[in-house]
Amino acid sequence: MRHEVIEKNSLLMAVLVICLISVGGLVEITPLFFLKSTIPPLEGVRPYAPLELEGRDIYIREGCYNCHSQMIRPFRAETERYGPYSKPAESMYDHPFQWGSKRTGPDLARIGKKYPDSWHVQHMEDPRSLVPESVMPRYPWLSQAALDDSLIQKKMQAMKTLGVPYTDEEIRKAPEGLKGKTELDAIIAYLQSLGTAVKRQ
Ligand code: HEC
Repeated sequence: MRHEVIEKNSLLMAVLVICLISVGGLVEITPLFFLKSTIPPLEGVRPYAPLELEGRDIYIREGCYNCHSQMIRPFRAETERYGPYSKPAESMYDHPFQWGSKRTGPDLARIGKKYPDSWHVQHMEDPRSLVPESVMPRYPWLSQAALDDSLIQKKMQAMKTLGVPYTDEEIRKAPEGLKGKTELDAIIAYLQSLGTAVKRQ
């Protein structure tokens, strides 16, 4: 077929262009249907415990993500400051994920076990008592508020629907782990779990 024929017939040209693009698209997309998961497995990654899951919801409710990202990029300036860069599997049970891009405060992807719980208790109560130049707000009400445990089973069930492998046994027992806890206990449990699957260098 002479090229001229195609160039002069816009319908034929459109059909051929669609065929060409489809081949490229199929080559990229088809293999994905045969992969069980596109996330490389990472040892030590586990779903959030009930208390941590509640803490995560408080983190979202209080808008901590407006100032804190949870995504260490693979650049030296980031890994020197925060630790090993974030791996895909580390946020596979995070729905919705908290990567973010706004960093008024430091990245929190590896905050877990960086400080003792007591540091967080004081920092949440009054950040400036530990970091005088901090612009982080105080969250004094968290230690006063009893944790609402009435929805934990529904929340875990919802996570299960999204692919988090909670067992029926774990969901049944979940409220026990929340008895007598405050919102502060929950958010600290959450923070202390972040990024701990990957060892700090
Ligand atoms: C207005 C912005 C802002 C908000 C909102 C905010 N922070 Fe911060 N955060 C900061 C800044 C700035 C710092 C660094 C100074 C400091 O340590 O207080 C910080 C530091 C921290 C640190 C210590 C990080 C480290 O590596 O030393 C933690 C933990 C933390 N924030 C948790 C939270 C949590 C949890 C919330 C929500 C309840 C929150 N922040 C809300 C700005 C914010």
